[in-house]
Amino acid sequence: METNRGSFSRIGFILAAAGSAVGLGNLWKFPYTVGENGGGLFVVIYLLSVIAIAFPVLLAEVTLGRFTGKNPVGAFNAIKPGTPWKLVGYLGVASGFMILSFYSVVAGTTLGYFFKSVTGQFVNITPEIAEQTCDAFTSNPAFQLPLLALFIAITVFVVMRGVSGGIEKFSKILMPVLFGILILLLVRSLTLSGAAKGIEFYLKPDISALKPKLVLDAMGQAFFSLSLGMGTMITYGSYVSKRENLVTSAGWIASFDTGIALMAGFIIFPAIFSQGMNEAAGPDTMFNVLPVLFDKMPGGIFFGPLFFLLLSIAALTSTISILEVPVAYAVDERKWGRKKSAILIGSIACLIGVPAALSQGSVPFLADLPLLHISFMALWVQVWGVLSLSIGAFFIALFVGYAWKPGNALMEIRQGAGSLKAVSLWVFAVKYVSPLLILAILIGMFF
Ligand code: PFF
Repeated sequence: METNRGSFSRIGFILAAAGSAVGLGNLWKFPYTVGENGGGLFVVIYLLSVIAIAFPVLLAEVTLGRFTGKNPVGAFNAIKPGTPWKLVGYLGVASGFMILSFYSVVAGTTLGYFFKSVTGQFVNITPEIAEQTCDAFTSNPAFQLPLLALFIAITVFVVMRGVSGGIEKFSKILMPVLFGILILLLVRSLTLSGAAKGIEFYLKPDISALKPKLVLDAMGQAFFSLSLGMGTMITYGSYVSKRENLVTSAGWIASFDTGIALMAGFIIFPAIFSQGMNEAAGPDTMFNVLPVLFDKMPGGIFFGPLFFLLLSIAALTSTISILEVPVAYAVDERKWGRKKSAILIGSIACLIGVPAALSQGSVPFLADLPLLHISFMALWVQVWGVLSLSIGAFFIALFVGYAWKPGNALMEIRQGAGSLKAVSLWVFAVKYVSPLLILAILIGMFF
């Protein structure tokens, strides 16, 4: 089922897929979710989820994408035409709109923090002032709304032109620079006095913290971080050549993504504990901690702005992949032009993002939803960033395990991979481990 929709080079695919995976999920969402869930135990369950549940789904998604050469709706339809399986694709398209909407709010804040740090607004900052600054910034619609619109506009601008050229070249240079700055931050954070308490919180599992929500959050985080469950990797897989080894590519993507998330924790928690900050501060955590850390390190005045800029770029390579899902659907299935699709879908996502942008303090009703007592933003992250991706991943595993059949998937995987080892392990994971565990965890939520 080869098509002429264009293709990635080997390194291009790994970079684009790693660019999709590495983003705010690693540096913003992972640390604050660890903080809210009491530390080490969450990290352990997260790592187990990546290995046992998410990696098998990652390989399933890229294989499905490469075999069909299609967007998620088209992919399910190509293999099982006229069946309800395409609804899984539609759920992915819907998730694309929703995740893009709240993700771009946070991405806009990283851009705002770039401007703030470049203009020296974090010099001599104390933890208290950092928290006040973050509150004032995120609760001001005059900043949040234009930054949301700006970030989506940049994403639309790139996706409109197709993904291959610019963003791949950018990622090749910028991702290593981001990595380099992360190492510097890591050294600074680990050498702060009192860092050990943070590391203990981060690494020491406290079994009494075990709750169904913790396990769901950890699993959902694994899907979110690896861009799974909504067909992003199906879509990216559809641009991969038959010569590539999908198994090793997926291995690189997962290792890179998990490594960066773990690093983020080693940066954030020692800093939180040594500065006496709140480890359960939720989505503000990263924005509270990093300005203080940069202010305390040599060259921080230079590395701070650079870091926030690179973070915005890491977020951009993710928003591109999120927007690409509904756009690929509109182009393939609705026969719309790429430009029209990107502009229209981006504009709708921007409108959907407005309540999330206003829910960080500016509108009290949205900041503290009646009955739920969480912000609209937190609700949106939970519903679309955790639940819908888990449900999507559940059905993708079922589809490959029972409808398409692992034997057919393996024929696709073998192309470019030569001889395969541990095949039966993957088949077992896709047929039993992933779907059963996801189902058990989802059901556990209701008890
Ligand atoms: N994986 C991205 C991150 O960790 O920031 C977020 C993301 C991208 C989620 C693409 C879902 C997706 F389809």
